[in-house]
Amino acid sequence: MRRKLAAGNWKMNGTTAALSELEALTRAFPSPTVDVLICPPATLLHRAAEAVRGTGITVGGQDCHAATSGAHTGDISADMLVDAGANTVILGHSERREDHDEQNEDVRAKARGAMDAGLKAIICVGESLEQREAANTLEIIGGQMSGSIPDQSTGENLIVAYEPIWAIGTGKVPTLNEIGEVHDFIRARLERRFGEGVGRSVRLLYGGSVKPSNAAEIFGVSNVDGALVGGASLKAADFSGIVEALEKT
Ligand code: 13P
Repeated sequence: MRRKLAAGNWKMNGTTAALSELEALTRAFPSPTVDVLICPPATLLHRAAEAVRGTGITVGGQDCHAATSGAHTGDISADMLVDAGANTVILGHSERREDHDEQNEDVRAKARGAMDAGLKAIICVGESLEQREAANTLEIIGGQMSGSIPDQSTGENLIVAYEPIWAIGTGKVPTLNEIGEVHDFIRARLERRFGEGVGRSVRLLYGGSVKPSNAAEIFGVSNVDGALVGGASLKAADFSGIVEALEKT
């Protein structure tokens, strides 16, 4: 059985005051029946880890460098994320692919570094609106998967997030059929590449305008094991609704 996962990506949001939202979340879910993960900005990671210590909630990073250390001004290694208290890192988010020109091979190298450091990697894939309208969605997702997911992946260290770029922060969500089609495709690809055992144990998250009001129906789609949530993860009240919907799935 795959454990359900509600993951929050705070992106470049949050200073010290935002830790109160995390504290409220720990009060709301002292022992959640699903995995709950918050990925705050790196500057808050250590304090966030302290805030959730002893609860069922964990924290993660939003990116890491492929190397363990070295002359890379401004970058953060996977070992540093672990040292700060992270157990997971988001990699290849479309905002990183776009803002920092990250290519599939960069994401794959980062994922190797993260897995070697003992982190779980949430590898993000997703098509643009133009690609969907040109009926290229599955081809794009397949290419991102082959290029970004390293060979050492297992059901334990790999999580795949399907985030259609046009659904991120827009309030637009694919139909449930469209989500199911992509998630079934990702599952089949994983089984083909890694074998049924591993392929079936990797968790698949949907991301893009998930809110308390649409979470339950999205969680009802086949091969959706949880969500990667941006805007609605910033407030404990909103994210709680999503965690509750997942707990009821
Ligand atoms: P929103 O939930 O704000 O659409 O963001 C989704 C996302 O990019 C999570 O990584």
